[in-house]
Amino acid sequence: MRIPDDKVEEVRAASDVVDVVSDYVQLKKRGSNYFGLCPFHNEKTPSFSVNPAMGIYKCFGCHAGGDVFRFVMQVEGLGFIESIRLLAERAGIPLPEQDAEERERASEVESIYHALRFAARFFYEQLTRTDAGRPALDYLHARGFPPKTIKRFGLGYAPDRWDALLTAAEAQHIAPEMLEKAGLVLPRKDGSGHYDRFRGRVIFPIFSHVGKVLGFGGRILAPDPDQPKYINSPETKVYTKSQVLYGLYQAKQEARREEEVILVEGYTDVISLHQAGVENVVASSGTALTAEQVKALGRYVKRILLLYDADAAGAEAALRGIDLVLEQGLAAYAVALPGGEDPDSYVRTHGGEAFREYARKHRQDFVVFLYESARRAGRLDTPEGEAATMRAVLATVARIPDPLAQETYLRRASEVLGVPDMQLRPVLADLQREQHQQQARAARREEARAAVPEAPPLEAYEDAPEAQAAPPPAEVWPQEAELLRLMLQHGAPMIEFILSHMALDEFSEGPPRTLAAALLQMFEDGAVETRRFFDGSFGADVQALAAEVVMERHEPSDNWQRKQNITVGRADPFESARSAMRLLKLRRVDAAIAAQKERLYAAPHADADDRALQEHLMHLLQLRQGIDRREFLDW
Ligand code: UTP
Ligand code: MN
Repeated sequence: MRIPDDKVEEVRAASDVVDVVSDYVQLKKRGSNYFGLCPFHNEKTPSFSVNPAMGIYKCFGCHAGGDVFRFVMQVEGLGFIESIRLLAERAGIPLPEQDAEERERASEVESIYHALRFAARFFYEQLTRTDAGRPALDYLHARGFPPKTIKRFGLGYAPDRWDALLTAAEAQHIAPEMLEKAGLVLPRKDGSGHYDRFRGRVIFPIFSHVGKVLGFGGRILAPDPDQPKYINSPETKVYTKSQVLYGLYQAKQEARREEEVILVEGYTDVISLHQAGVENVVASSGTALTAEQVKALGRYVKRILLLYDADAAGAEAALRGIDLVLEQGLAAYAVALPGGEDPDSYVRTHGGEAFREYARKHRQDFVVFLYESARRAGRLDTPEGEAATMRAVLATVARIPDPLAQETYLRRASEVLGVPDMQLRPVLADLQREQHQQQARAARREEARAAVPEAPPLEAYEDAPEAQAAPPPAEVWPQEAELLRLMLQHGAPMIEFILSHMALDEFSEGPPRTLAAALLQMFEDGAVETRRFFDGSFGADVQALAAEVVMERHEPSDNWQRKQNITVGRADPFESARSAMRLLKLRRVDAAIAAQKERLYAAPHADADDRALQEHLMHLLQLRQGIDRREFLDW
């Protein structure tokens, strides 16, 4: 369905680009722009920037760029309409509901999300508003989860029937096939229809970091030896377990503020800690911690505290977690609760404040953690065991990508292990070389795998093919970039000034010329709407170029400005335009002169030809002089 233009504008106005991008990228303010690590390609130094005044983003590394809608399309892999819906939902702006027929035409992914959202609401209502949900509600209250918590985490109850969700969904024209794709129902073995996956269970919805329902966990109410305590949604087109963290949506704000996120085991740990006031908690539910999950956390924090069980299995899990965290360039700390306690039981008896205090006091950096677990396991009792432990500690230090951080931890290791760092350095270097070789081998394997023809694209994305990859960068000269920037930022008077002194073919062929031509057209039509260049009206490559030229690569920092006691303003924009035009024209004429000379000296010519070439060269040289003296401004 078409979303009315004024609704689109309302959503745009309500979606601050810095705010939205911050859901995915940790941004730092510098000058009037924000910078961070690009979410569209792998990088170690930030080349991704956001300009709040113009409402756009731009990556100088991979050339992705555009407005807030474009960002959501790219980062979520959605079509235009879907990205508006997502932002509308985020901003709480109601859009006209789609009817069943329209939904059918909308992408499958959207229909899956719709089914999941419906199910979450259904389970919540079963829990909070029906008699059938009463025992589950009593159970949650007894666990110490008040209505506020139930609401915040969207907890629910799946009735103990084979078709409760199926029937309710059918009344809303959600087909069983769609519920199946959403992981909510299973086909009957005899092929006669479907049945509910979650029955007679307390429901924990799993949200994406922007609050979309992706799947569910379900806990049985009363212990039953014949049934698993928890069951979970399967992987679906919208739920990839290795990428999702339970509780991130509720935790991210506090995580940013605390500059740390606490990693726990499961649903109930997250919720208990959260309601005890420790809100920066997530769990990797359904899988062991993955690199992708750590990467996702890296958008919010630079430090992770792993909370693990005080037994051997718990320490083992923490160990694996530590390697992953360090490899992603984050700091890793670990803490074990006193024997027999899990976070849920701990806060229920001692409260959130005590938990905080405990975590502060007993946290260990990973060097101490590794050393202490080895000691507890008796691995320091023999010389071989001690050597192996040292090696294990250094192997972990070797995973730290930042050389300075690595240096700090090497010294820490020296201190904890009681060995001079000079003796540890060669071992560290060896281990690091080994790891690099391993990584190179893995990368080669990955490359070989990628060389195999790709599987056809997910049909879900077919309606948004250009949302997938950023367009290749256009060939743009810095002077024309400056001219385009001036026209985009200063509008009609600047367009008139520049394009009355420049021919369109003086702009490079491709996006630069297209952009200049469109500006001229708008000017001549008397309606200059520069925003349309950023919203994709002129195609993705013009959009990327427009974003690129208006975004400053290097903004002077506030601090620098203060120190120099100056305000860094731009020179008179018209003077900038004159200067850029002169330089661009000089480059063009220099290129023509060089080509002419080549022609002249390259091959023998008839005299007449030679003279003609000479004359043209003279003409070009005169032209050059004129440009150099800015005579074109008088034309
Ligand atoms: P618990 O066994 O403590 O679950 O596991 P619980 O619901 O808190 O049960 P009680 O009341 O203590 O007996 C802690 C977390 O581990 C995950 C869940 O996320 C749970 O919150 N878990 C546990 C599973 O995913 N599957 C299981 O079978 C058990
Ligand atoms: Mn428990």
